Amino acid sequence: MRAATVVLAAGLLMIGGALLPGVRADAPATAPGASAQTLKSAADFASIKDPATRSVALFTEAGKVIESPRCMNCHPVQRAPTQGDDRHPHNPPMVAGQSGHGPVGLPCGACHGPANVETWGQDIKSIPGDPKWALAPVEMAWQGKSLGAICAQIKDPTRNGGRSLAEIHHHMAEDHLVGWAWNPGDGRVPALGTQARFGELVQAWIDTGAKCPKA
Ligand code: HEC
Ligand code: HEC
Repeated sequence: MRAATVVLAAGLLMIGGALLPGVRADAPATAPGASAQTLKSAADFASIKDPATRSVALFTEAGKVIESPRCMNCHPVQRAPTQGDDRHPHNPPMVAGQSGHGPVGLPCGACHGPANVETWGQDIKSIPGDPKWALAPVEMAWQGKSLGAICAQIKDPTRNGGRSLAEIHHHMAEDHLVGWAWNPGDGRVPALGTQARFGELVQAWIDTGAKCPKA
């Protein structure tokens, strides 16, 4: 009996071993150490009794996503995107143009297609893509701002595209371009956690009065 179980277990391990490389190839790229950091859930903040204090703590946790390079590279102050975890200038040099979709004759979409594309290059493993790929408007600039200042911007309908808090939640939790940050293509570290968990944090932040950290 026992021997049979061992043989069976060994067989399953071999199947698992054979499957594993295929599974790995499809998994998102994760930098060493990134898996040690995770995004807390809204429930993790239930022990903070004061709603305003809890609200600030929830936004601070959501800020781990908002301040990730995957979001920041498209929300710069200068009217030009940045690249990589060190937010270096976009190579080739690129500007937002009037529409945020790039200069006339060289729109973002000339290189950024509707989905990520693998490349055969050594340095660049993939080109990011999304149907709505564009630079965030100047009033939504986040780079170099404190999390409190970003929070105030996100809440301000004159600077957030005229959105209500419910619409902000919907954008954070459902928008496909925002979701790209968790599926950024080979060679890039995804944002922490999942878009669903991020959406829950934003909802809990709104439910507790949408308080901002000190700017
Ligand atoms: C001539 C081709 C080309 C054009 C046009 C272009 N890009 Fe890029 N972009 C790239 C390539 C290639 C990469 C990947 C580089 C890398 O990963 O090192 C990239 C990467 C990026 C990244 C970095 C993503 C990250 O988190 O590392 C952002 C942001 C970006 N582009 C925004 C834009 C925006 C916005 C526009 C239009 C205003 C634009 N790009 C136009 C080729 C282009
Ligand atoms: C490829 C570029 C790009 C990336 C990557 C990106 N954004 Fe944006 N973002 C935009 C553009 C363009 C707009 C303006 C479009 C609109 O208002 O619908 C915008 C608008 C927003 C808005 C609404 C207005 C406001 O208050 O700022 C929020 C919220 C937002 N982005 C959150 C995020 C978050 C969170 C991430 C990362 C998880 C992210 N974005 C990644 C381009 C990007």
